[in-house]
Amino acid sequence: MESAEIRKRFLDFFKARGHAIIPSAPLVPENDPSVLFNTAGMQPLAPYLLGQKHPMGSRLADAQKCVRTGDIDEVGDNRHLTFFEMLGNWSLGDYFKEESIKWSYEFLTSAEEGLGLDPSRIYVTVFAGDENAPRDTEALEIWNKYMPENRIYFLPAKNNWWSPGDNGPSGPDTEIFYDTNKTPLGDMTHDEFVAADEEGRVIEVWNNVFMEYEKQSGKVIGKLAQKNVDTGMGLERITMVCQKVSNVFETDLFGPILGKIDEFTTSLDIRAQYIVADHMRTAVFLIADGVIPSTTERGYVLRRLIRRAVRFADVLGMKHGSLEHIAGAVIEKYKDIYSVVSESSSAIKSEIEKEESKFRQTLEHGLKEFEKGVDPFILATTYGFPIELTEELAKEKNMTIDRAAFDIKMKEHQTLSRTASAGMFKGGLANHNEKTVRLHTAHHLLLAALQKVLGHEVKQRGSNITEERLRIDFAYDRKMTDEEKKRVEDIVNKNIQARLAVVRREMPREEAMKIGAEMEFGAKYPDVVSVYFIGPSSNTPQDDTHPVSIEFCGGPHVGNTSELGTFKIQKEEASSQGVRRIKAILE
Ligand code: ALA
Repeated sequence: MESAEIRKRFLDFFKARGHAIIPSAPLVPENDPSVLFNTAGMQPLAPYLLGQKHPMGSRLADAQKCVRTGDIDEVGDNRHLTFFEMLGNWSLGDYFKEESIKWSYEFLTSAEEGLGLDPSRIYVTVFAGDENAPRDTEALEIWNKYMPENRIYFLPAKNNWWSPGDNGPSGPDTEIFYDTNKTPLGDMTHDEFVAADEEGRVIEVWNNVFMEYEKQSGKVIGKLAQKNVDTGMGLERITMVCQKVSNVFETDLFGPILGKIDEFTTSLDIRAQYIVADHMRTAVFLIADGVIPSTTERGYVLRRLIRRAVRFADVLGMKHGSLEHIAGAVIEKYKDIYSVVSESSSAIKSEIEKEESKFRQTLEHGLKEFEKGVDPFILATTYGFPIELTEELAKEKNMTIDRAAFDIKMKEHQTLSRTASAGMFKGGLANHNEKTVRLHTAHHLLLAALQKVLGHEVKQRGSNITEERLRIDFAYDRKMTDEEKKRVEDIVNKNIQARLAVVRREMPREEAMKIGAEMEFGAKYPDVVSVYFIGPSSNTPQDDTHPVSIEFCGGPHVGNTSELGTFKIQKEEASSQGVRRIKAILE
């Protein structure tokens, strides 16, 4: 049975039992900034599990896109994935244990409406009870209608209590396992079953949570106003079971993706192939849902996935540009199921290509640097190596790196740039993602160019940078002519083309003032300041060796002006009496 048929059967089965079929929510939670991605089918439904009325009624079912990156470094074995689809059905204060268990059993075993799995290979676990809730003898009795009692095991909260984190709806669950071994395992004692689970000889396929409790700060605080059911079945895993393969990558969900990878490599490094396949699949879905590679949060998760894929594509000898085609195979596989994937097809490919190109600029040098000696901090800040990548490289060489020391150093690094820029830009620099960082460097070049064209008395009065544009206010008493604007643009672009290094130094405030570092009018600076120098270098078109720009600034900035693109002034206007305002962009 193909995965598309499994997905369809699941939804049809629950539709026939009064469930409204709802579309998958986007991977990025719409109203919850506290989580990066949806990690379970229930997450977008949390308000309804807590009592809010759902417009589609009290019985729902869907296939929800999920991303879990907690064990990114385990991808490559037979069952870890960073993206997966969770099939789920919900009762919002409607049916409870009786129907939930009955329908799960029927769906798994019915050949007509369900998956036709062998009942004698099923095992289940139920909650053993603790101070929060009693032993679930109710679930046991219901299961007993379908299963012999010696295939039903009581396990503690560690195994059979589910909650989405420290806060939210939660409850005891019953988990359904399947034996995929050639020779069936047959009856097992409690201890034998626990060992089989730990060793991966039985596979958990479905989790039914009886959500009637609420957790706050990690503690069960009492019962919810309604009794809910929340179930989750991983599509990739159940497909693996139905297709009688021992590995999620051998299912039809990955067939065409690995087939495409095969066209670009002759290497038999299966693990590397799986990593590229998994990470590209996740990248496609993240970009389709609006995430773009960046230095923060969601964008950084995406960046790490693509960069790790680039590195393993390298291991496989795949040429620059092939990842785009792998993404194409992912899009092809999912385009009929998730329209958002086909609609954003060109954006997906171009973001992946851009990120690949960017990382390839530093990957080779970074690897050389790595050969000389491992400094994960330098690799991260100068060569853009995500820490996991450095750890992985080190592991391949049987070396370890001091992760704790790295984390401390990174934190200091980030704190320094944040506090400094908050002081300099008074909150104007809203985030540090790359577009703003580039515009920030362009801002320094612009001020220097204005002084060159209009005279050194031009002083900065204010600044504001968004992802789209930069804005500078400066003291000057008349409108600029078109010719002057053109000259300013030309000077900035010339300095971009000159590939000038951007260097940060810390020095006493007095010394920085002595060398004429630009400071914002009215701003207060600490005794020791951070100063950014742009240029010169031997191949610059400067007529002297004086840097193009010296400014008091916390950063962050690009490492070289060549990263900026083309500078363009969009508007020059009066901001207030004696103050002009320029808005400019990088193309
Ligand atoms: N919310 C439950 C899970 O994710 C069904 O396992």
